[in-house]
Amino acid sequence: MTPSAWLSGSVGENDNTTTGEDFTVNTVQISKHVWWAGVKDPDLRVFDIVMPTQYGTTYNAYVVRGEKTALIDTVKKQFSAEYFAKVESLVPLDAVDYLIVNHTEPDHSGAIAELLKQSPKLQIVCSGAALPFVRNVLNDDTPLTTVKDDAVIDLGGVTLKFKIMPYMHWPDTMMEFCPEDKVLFSCDGFASHLSGESVFDEDTRVDLPREMKYYFDAIMRPFSGYIRRNMPKLDGLDIDMVAPSHGPVLRKYAAQFIQDYRDWTVDKLAGAPRVTIFYVSNYGNTGLLAEAIDKGLTEAGLKTDLVELSTCPVEKAQDLIERSAAILIGTPTFNSDAPRPVWDLMNLFSTVYSIGKKAAVFGSYGWGGEGTKLIAERLSSMKLKVYPETYRARLIPSAKEMTEVHDFARKVAEFVRE
Ligand code: FEO
Repeated sequence: MTPSAWLSGSVGENDNTTTGEDFTVNTVQISKHVWWAGVKDPDLRVFDIVMPTQYGTTYNAYVVRGEKTALIDTVKKQFSAEYFAKVESLVPLDAVDYLIVNHTEPDHSGAIAELLKQSPKLQIVCSGAALPFVRNVLNDDTPLTTVKDDAVIDLGGVTLKFKIMPYMHWPDTMMEFCPEDKVLFSCDGFASHLSGESVFDEDTRVDLPREMKYYFDAIMRPFSGYIRRNMPKLDGLDIDMVAPSHGPVLRKYAAQFIQDYRDWTVDKLAGAPRVTIFYVSNYGNTGLLAEAIDKGLTEAGLKTDLVELSTCPVEKAQDLIERSAAILIGTPTFNSDAPRPVWDLMNLFSTVYSIGKKAAVFGSYGWGGEGTKLIAERLSSMKLKVYPETYRARLIPSAKEMTEVHDFARKVAEFVRE
């Protein structure tokens, strides 16, 4: 039995079922004016190159019908035929009035170009940030309509109110709320990678809260600061149902997962500035510098954590990065490079919200000493504010160098407090 076969029970929610060329066309009416018309990809085992997806995923698209019709997002390109068949089972493609593009990543924008050929009068609606991306998807001058926060499209008997949600998780992300049906179309927010028989959360037999957190950590966590600033836009909306772009439509868990996103993106920097000093040290020399810097920062009144990298679990390192106002990296130089544990740490910075944090780099070296410069450059490229000097000592730090590194710590403390 494949995982997707036992993900959910059959709840008989499928209506409008017909047989397509090599797929079954079933759409699901999820509320008075809204149909799920997405596709399932139960055999997907890796999403976006790096994220294991043991339960596959879905590319959710929706049809909203009043006197006019709006499509909300499309699907990954190779599922276009199935998607078009589903939409056409509800409304002729050339009668569709709007395509709402919540986000232009190819898993949702893959069918736009072909859709436009079949529905030439269709009006594309997107955020201002999405405009250049849609241009890059279509590579033509198709007219585009951009919307701002709280703009409304009236479909005749049903409306969509837009909420611009930048970096949740792309700069172009937007959501919309349908007040008549109390449905929030949430793009990649509140999504999960699951493909089951039913489209609804209450029928899912896997641990959905666990999968939701897994998805959040993999996709959303690096943008926690942006999400925290966006979430108040949902306050006051009378949401009964969340219709995300992947995984189950949320009825049972809608309120819980919205609250979870608030909790998971809480500002961990509150309180006195905290500094984490990560280091590795083969012969103890970079370790001596790390301890001296730790002492200097503490004397300057900063709260510090001194962490030897090779024994630090990934989850702890991620948490420390998020909680720290500044991160110092102590790295030796091996063969003109920083050693692998330091680069592994660098790779963690893009898995959490680290933009704008302060940073500084130091280390002992034998002859080249390139490691500190390379790590400082990498931190800068990831948009951390890096102290302009690195501190290096050759081999065993002398008494003079120990005084210098203490002074370096004092200057870094001032930099952290700026
Ligand atoms: Fe599911 Fe960010 O695309």
